[in-house]
Amino acid sequence: MTPEATLAKFREHMVGPARFMNLLSCFELGVIDALRERPGLDAVELGRVVGAKPDAVEQLLHLPVKEGFVAYDPATGGYSLDALADLPQADLDRVLIFMDLVKVTMLRQLYYLTESVKAGTVVGLKEFYGYEGNLFGAVAEHKDLRESWATAMDAGTARVDPWFFDNVEIPAGARVLDLAGNTGLGAINTYRHKTSPGLHVTTFDLPEKEQEALENFRANGVAEHCSFIGGDVFREVPTGFDVVLIRHFLTLWDRSEVLKILHNVNKSLDVGGQVSVLVPVYQDDVREHDSRSVDFYPAFFLGCAMGQGGPQKLSTWSGWLEECGFEVTEVVVENPTDIPADALPLQAVVSARKTA
Ligand SMILES: C[S@@+](CC[C@H](N)C(=O)[O-])C[C@H]1O[C@@H](n2cnc3c(N)ncnc32)[C@H](O)[C@@H]1O
Repeated sequence: MTPEATLAKFREHMVGPARFMNLLSCFELGVIDALRERPGLDAVELGRVVGAKPDAVEQLLHLPVKEGFVAYDPATGGYSLDALADLPQADLDRVLIFMDLVKVTMLRQLYYLTESVKAGTVVGLKEFYGYEGNLFGAVAEHKDLRESWATAMDAGTARVDPWFFDNVEIPAGARVLDLAGNTGLGAINTYRHKTSPGLHVTTFDLPEKEQEALENFRANGVAEHCSFIGGDVFREVPTGFDVVLIRHFLTLWDRSEVLKILHNVNKSLDVGGQVSVLVPVYQDDVREHDSRSVDFYPAFFLGCAMGQGGPQKLSTWSGWLEECGFEVTEVVVENPTDIPADALPLQAVVSARKTA
């Protein structure tokens, strides 16, 4: 890379937070909705509609115009949606859910990324919320974090689940444990995608998730087929299951914790029992095209969620499973051309069988 190209890369990083909030603010102010309803409004009219000075609205609109999201007509001074007019609403809704996640759970907390890395805890949560612990504990106490995180988590799960269930075997009538299954969405989706006579799916998560999980099972009409066990994966994983699913969880932890979890899962299964993990992955060479997980996850896990953890290369996930008494039976990685262009991670399913 030439020094000029290196400097251009630095600039890309420098303007990241400014561009992010500039764009989001156009949505939050209602500028984009106003233009959808009444194309052609100028800055003065827009200012009146959204309750802001026209000068500021004009400033904020330069970036979306530069990016081609919004069009500007110099003859009339009017704005209208450009590329945003062609984006399906469901796609825009998903993007805004993840932009909210970035704003609420990342933007402030990452000021303390360096301190979080040194301390091995999320210093930003302590500084801004007085909370000592990780994001998953903080969401129980702080509504803004909970709403933002839970909405994004469910949207991510909803996107990945059809692909995940296409690539995981669940034998008919199996007893399935959805490890760290949160408030039951994974169990409900497992039952729906893999229904067979006798199939039963149990969510295992921290005890405080029980009530909401049971309500979700009832509301979704699967209370007969899904249940909840409260506990801590580092103490013990419940026994009596044929298949253990671990989705969006191993990546929260560093190596030593992942090995403890996998050892406990191994202990809970009979020989031949199956574990299938859904994990974000880095390409073996992170310089390869579509090492998209690198852009977001190291900072998210270290500075916002856990103070540790992050995606790994496929060879690392497989190696850790083997270290804990499993034989890897299947590895499937998402095809970058099949996922939405805004997707933050590249996911993989690694399935393995207990050998020892
Ligand atoms: C990132 S969420 C994943 C939720 C779910 N698997 C999904 O795919 O949507 C992590 C989950 O791990 C749970 N969790 C964290 N520490 C745990 C522990 N020690 N034992 C059991 N569950 C835990 C949290 O309560 C949270 O629901």
